[in-house]
Amino acid sequence: MTEELNKILADFQARLAEVSTLQQLDEVKTVYLGKKGPITDVMKNLRSLPKEEKAAVGQAANVIKSQMTEEINAKRSELEEAAINEKIASEWIDVTLDEAPSKIGALHPVSTIQYEIEDIFTSMGFTVLDGPHCETDHYNFEALNIPKDHPARDMQDTFYFDNGAILRTHTSAIQVRGMENIKPPFKIIGPGKVFRVERTDASHEAAFHQLEGMVVDKDINVANLINTMKTLLSEIFKKDVNVRLRPGFFPFVEPGFELDISCMICNAKGCSVCSQTGWVELMPCGMVHPNVLRSGGIDPEEYSGFAFGLGLDRLVMMRYQIEDIRHLHSGDIRFSGQFK
Ligand code: DAH
Repeated sequence: MTEELNKILADFQARLAEVSTLQQLDEVKTVYLGKKGPITDVMKNLRSLPKEEKAAVGQAANVIKSQMTEEINAKRSELEEAAINEKIASEWIDVTLDEAPSKIGALHPVSTIQYEIEDIFTSMGFTVLDGPHCETDHYNFEALNIPKDHPARDMQDTFYFDNGAILRTHTSAIQVRGMENIKPPFKIIGPGKVFRVERTDASHEAAFHQLEGMVVDKDINVANLINTMKTLLSEIFKKDVNVRLRPGFFPFVEPGFELDISCMICNAKGCSVCSQTGWVELMPCGMVHPNVLRSGGIDPEEYSGFAFGLGLDRLVMMRYQIEDIRHLHSGDIRFSGQFK
C-alpha cells in the first residue's frame, strides 16, 4: 500500500513539474486531491484493510496529501510571482527620462506691432474694425472717390476674380464699411492684409499689412491730424522721431499728405530701404474728401474728418532693423524664431 502511495506521489510530482499556468495547476489539484482522486480512493478503501494496516496507511495517506497540498501551494506562489514580474517587466516606464523639449512658438512681428498699435489707439478712444480681404470695386475704389477711369487705379493694380471681386489693395475700404455702420462722431482703426501686383524688391511685396485710421467729428482739422500722428509715433518708437510732412495726392483726401520718418536702418545716411534718401514714407494721410463722407452717408457740411494709412511691415522693419521686406513672408523659422 505504501508503495502505491509513493507511486501516486511520484506521478503527481511529474505532472506538477510540467505545470506552467494557474489553470493547469488547478487541474492537477482536482485530479490528485479531488473527490475522485487517488488519495480519496485510498481513504475509501481503508475499511477493507486489516486492522493493523488501517492506521499506518491512513497516516501515510494523510502525510502524502499534505505534502501534495504544500507542493501545490508553493507552485501557486511561484506562478503568481512570475506573472507579476512579467507584468512589471512589460509595463516598465523610465520616469527619469527627460521629455523632448517642446518648441514654443511666437507671434509674427507684424502681429506684435499690430496689437501694440491697437492698444495705443484704443487707449485714445478708437474702435478696432475688421474688413474682408476679398472686396468689391465699390468699397475698394468707387466709394473712395476713385472712379473706374481714374489714373490712381494704376498704382493699385490687384488680383481680380471672375465674379468682379478683387483682393483689397488698401485698408481704406474699411473706412467705407465703418461709415456705413457707425454714426459720427467716431474714431476707428482697421488693420489687415492688403494685396497688389508688385515687382518685389527690398521694400515691396505683393501682400503686406496696413492699418487704416479715420476720425470723423464736427470741426476736425489738420492740427488734430498732426497731433494724433505725433502721439502715435512717440508711443511706438518710445522716443522722439524725426518727421516731415509733404503734400501727397490720394483721391479720398483733400488736402492729402505724406508723413515721412527719418530712416532708422541707416540713421538717415541712405540705404536700400530708404532708396538712399534718408527718409522713409510711413504714413499717408489727409482730410477726408467730401465725396467720401457723402458715399458713407455723412453730410460734409456738418462733419469733417481725417484719415491715415500706416504701413505695418515698414514699421516692423524700422523697429527691428530688417533690411528686406521679403524676410517677413519667407516662412523661414530661422528668421521668425528671433522674435520670441
Ligand atoms: N490707402 C492708401 C494707400 O494704400 C493710403 C492712405 C492714404 C490711406 C491717405 C489714408 C489716407 O487713409 O488718408 O496707398
